[in-house]
Amino acid sequence: MRYITVKNYDELSTKAAALICAQVNVKPNCVLGLATGSSPLGTYAKIIEKCANGEVDFSEVTSINLDEYMGLDGTHDQSYRYFMNTNLFSKINIDLAKTHVPNGCAADLEAECRAYDALIAEHGGIDLQLLGIGLDGHIGFNEPDKYFEKATHVVELDPSTIEANARFFASEADVPRKAVTMGMGGIMTAKKVLLIASGKNKKEIMEKAFFGPITPEVPASILQLHPDLTVIYSEE
Ligand code: GLP
Repeated sequence: MRYITVKNYDELSTKAAALICAQVNVKPNCVLGLATGSSPLGTYAKIIEKCANGEVDFSEVTSINLDEYMGLDGTHDQSYRYFMNTNLFSKINIDLAKTHVPNGCAADLEAECRAYDALIAEHGGIDLQLLGIGLDGHIGFNEPDKYFEKATHVVELDPSTIEANARFFASEADVPRKAVTMGMGGIMTAKKVLLIASGKNKKEIMEKAFFGPITPEVPASILQLHPDLTVIYSEE
């Protein structure tokens, strides 16, 4: 594990964007595992700049996102499909047909989960997986549990996650109670993993996740076992 501490969010975003763009330059048709939340916003802004400057070309890249709220379709402004389209995909030269986000409105969610794992396998796995981390240690929407769940699955969101994500919705009652998330199998078989986090409020969970015991009660702690993990943290 490379655990890099930087001064501030801007430096974190610059470093993360550089690593992602280096991956695309080394392998133009790579598969990027992408994340939502506020943490990657700065990274995406830097990637957009680099793409506009001609420093990187996303035309052959495939993206596979981590998760989606159950019951929100891509037109809902809090859906993760909408987030990705607005904050990244519409601003770089990626082919929208090569971008994937779980369908939280699928009539058969079990089939959607199986199809999502098949999609990851068909692409030979993810080359670089970008992650944020929740205050309870969740990655994607893999919430604290008694065991690590390997496959893509439907989860009940923790009350603390609902509370944390309520800031994006009109009220806490509007936050979906369930989500579809890639499981630990998809994440751990990624060739490289890059986790970014910032803020004093994440300090405690970062210490638990990367320097504490490996336990499904702190889902991100499993990443300690990943052979090519980079973590970038800034307290500011
Ligand atoms: C959400 C997402 C996660 C994300 C987490 C932290 O619950 N499903 O992928 O890492 O929130 O979000 P933030 O970066 O806004 O703190």
